[in-house]
Amino acid sequence: MRLEGRTAMVTGGASGIGAATARRLAAEGARVVVADVDEAGAREVAGELDGEAVAMDVLDLDSVSAGARAAEAAVGPLDVLVNNAGGGDRGVGWFVHIAPEDWEFQLRLNLHGVLAVTQQVVGGMRERRRGAIVNVASEAGRGGSEMNVPYSAAKAGVIGFTKAVAREFARYGVRCNAVAPGPIETPLLDALTRGGEAGDRLRQGMIAATRMGRAGTADEVAAVIAFLASDDSSFVTGETIGVSGGLTMM
Ligand SMILES: NC(=O)c1ccc[n+]([C@@H]2O[C@H](COP(=O)([O-])OP(=O)(O)OC[C@H]3O[C@@H](n4cnc5c(N)ncnc54)[C@H](O)[C@@H]3O)[C@@H](O)[C@H]2O)c1
Repeated sequence: MRLEGRTAMVTGGASGIGAATARRLAAEGARVVVADVDEAGAREVAGELDGEAVAMDVLDLDSVSAGARAAEAAVGPLDVLVNNAGGGDRGVGWFVHIAPEDWEFQLRLNLHGVLAVTQQVVGGMRERRRGAIVNVASEAGRGGSEMNVPYSAAKAGVIGFTKAVAREFARYGVRCNAVAPGPIETPLLDALTRGGEAGDRLRQGMIAATRMGRAGTADEVAAVIAFLASDDSSFVTGETIGVSGGLTMM
């Protein structure tokens, strides 16, 4: 078991990729904290894997700081942080029609949220001289996604952030990597379809653009996150690994 004796926190762990990741890290031996704004969902997933649940809204700095402290009180200092909370179906459509409050929301959820949680956790990792951070970006942040401009901008920010953190903390034994999922069958992908014609076009276009011609599963993303969280990737930092059936191959 690659993560025996390790502790891990997964943000947005109540659903989709985050829930699959929480399950996978627990199956590999980690004590897992499921952190989510959806407290009931977090408790449900944590209950399945003998883990802990904390309430955390990544849009709110006080909530992030309280959630991070609660996580460490529950399982001890964190060895692994998975910044997965994100998504959101706001800001989908032609960019000229997107309301500023919607693109601001996308940047706050998908980019600021990652900085906020990382800042609360990475200091302790630096002191202990060990840690692995895995950020859930998106192929939209590498190739750019038409009809999803604010989200693409935020996820590109996450990729840049991943590299900068990797550079700054490598000397302290802390690694930071990202995954860039393509279309993955989760409630987020379903929500895009509910976004009407623009969402439907986005979803179909993403699936058609994968070389494998299908959406992936949350378990397929969780497997790569587990690799990046484990010592199997001990000489890998600052990288973004596509989990997208060959969508961009960057
Ligand atoms: N599904 C895809 O096709 C896809 C593709 C590329 C990237 N991603 C990324 O993967 C990550 C997970 O997405 P998913 O598809 O599993 O979506 P999902 O909607 O199934 O899960 C998202 C989780 O994040 C939580 N969350 C939302 N806002 C939050 C907040 N403010 N604070 C804390 N938690 C919050 C939700 O409660 C939910 O549990 C996101 O960062 C998303 O951008 C998904």
